[in-house]
Amino acid sequence: RIIVLDFGGQYNQLIARRIRDLGVFSELMPHHTSAEEIQQLNPKGIIFSGGPNSVYGEGAPTCDPAIFELGIPILGICYGMQLIAAHFGAKVEQAGHREYGKAYVELLSDSRLFQEMEKQQLVWMSHRDVVVSPPAGFQVDGKTESAPIAAMSDPKRSIYAVQFHPEVRHSVNGDQMLRHFLFDICQSSDDWSMETFIEEEIEQVRTIVGDKKVLCALSGGVDSSVVAVLLHKAIGDQLTCMFVDHGLLRKGEAESVEETFAKHFEMNFIKIDAQDRFLSLLEGVTDPEQKRKIIGTEFIRVFEEESNQLGEHHFLGQGTLYTDIVESGTETAQTIKSHHNVGGLPEDMKMELIEPLNTLFKDEVRRVGEQLGLPKEIVWRQPFPGPGLGIRVIGEVTADKLAIVRESDAILREEIKKAGLDQEIWQYFTALPDFRSVGVMGDARTYAYTVGIRAVTSIDGMTADWARIPYEIVERISNRIINEVDDVNRVVLDVTSKPPSTIEWE
Ligand code: XMP
Repeated sequence: RIIVLDFGGQYNQLIARRIRDLGVFSELMPHHTSAEEIQQLNPKGIIFSGGPNSVYGEGAPTCDPAIFELGIPILGICYGMQLIAAHFGAKVEQAGHREYGKAYVELLSDSRLFQEMEKQQLVWMSHRDVVVSPPAGFQVDGKTESAPIAAMSDPKRSIYAVQFHPEVRHSVNGDQMLRHFLFDICQSSDDWSMETFIEEEIEQVRTIVGDKKVLCALSGGVDSSVVAVLLHKAIGDQLTCMFVDHGLLRKGEAESVEETFAKHFEMNFIKIDAQDRFLSLLEGVTDPEQKRKIIGTEFIRVFEEESNQLGEHHFLGQGTLYTDIVESGTETAQTIKSHHNVGGLPEDMKMELIEPLNTLFKDEVRRVGEQLGLPKEIVWRQPFPGPGLGIRVIGEVTADKLAIVRESDAILREEIKKAGLDQEIWQYFTALPDFRSVGVMGDARTYAYTVGIRAVTSIDGMTADWARIPYEIVERISNRIINEVDDVNRVVLDVTSKPPSTIEWE
């Protein structure tokens, strides 16, 4: 494995990703991880990430100096390079020009990192400080216009450093450089794959669980589904999956979850019909935050009540991903998810957590899901908020309004899929505003609801743009909604990005 020490840079997860894509397991660890801890993990190499600080600035993150004595190859990237330079007594200072974006590095040596590469390399830079002279024992491997030392190394100690970001796609030969570090300098083998992950994880789950029982809350989403199938593969009937139907699911969803897990995978599957409980609690409530709270709390209550009746379960299986841990776990992380996830269960449940996916990224989870034979509809499911349709009915949630959203959403999904757009649009759904307007159908006046179409493209849900669905398809969706869904006489298309809007309407 390769350890990436996290100094708070925006590309840190990307470094771990790239390395995994090259077939080597890699994980991010806090910058203050001790040399001893690192040694215990026996990594083939260590990467120092970038970071927003200046090495001489107040509170600048550092690392355990003993790491340099471990004899494990090190690659410093950006801040990581400056830290190496400062550690070995070289001068780092603020550059005359900041350098952001594309830059050409002129290679000056035959460093193993750049074997068989052209002398000019297009790379991605993002820095303010520069190393002005190499530390003792280091050679200069490359320069750019603004950085006299854009790459340096001490091959005897196997320490390599670059000012630019090889992990970013804009660095044309970045992958090749990482490959040289991994396979030539660190002598790693490229045997990390989803198959080996599954095998190892199954073994580990068996060891941890022994003959005890595990409970898993299924939402039908990708993460909890993959966890359930993986656990089932490992421990079979020792696993029970619980699925709470809060009545805020999309059309056909509850049935498809049951079909997949109870019938296809033949798991111990318990479905709790709690629609009435949720609906009656939501009666008269119009404030979005209050609705979210009610749904979240009630979900936990139902889960607790039902699991108490099941008899003892020692473990609780959860679909926590690597990103969840990294985003909430390291001090240096910049983005923190504030969304309340209905799958998030109470901490005082007295069950031990088992989280087999907590080293994986989302797309790796999808690959595991495919490998385990989960249906494509689940593996590639679009994100769906925990509070479900409860926040897509604007204002008070009633059974009638839920029916309108559910039916119109089903039509939208069907047409988007038919048009082959389902993979490129991040999320697409309908929302129901809390008003009626006048229309005319046949020869009669109508006074009915408006359905809003929301479809966005996005990478991570943090920012989004409205999807340019071809007008013919929008027209077909609109016609079908008007003709097939009762009490609707108008359809509108949401053409706002996030920010300033959010993806969901509530
Ligand atoms: P917004 O509406 O804030 O949503 O732009 C960003 C992404 O998060 C999803 N979302 C949620 N997911 N629990 C969740 O698990 C929630 O309470 C929740 N609220 C919003 C939303 O669907 C979008 O993908």
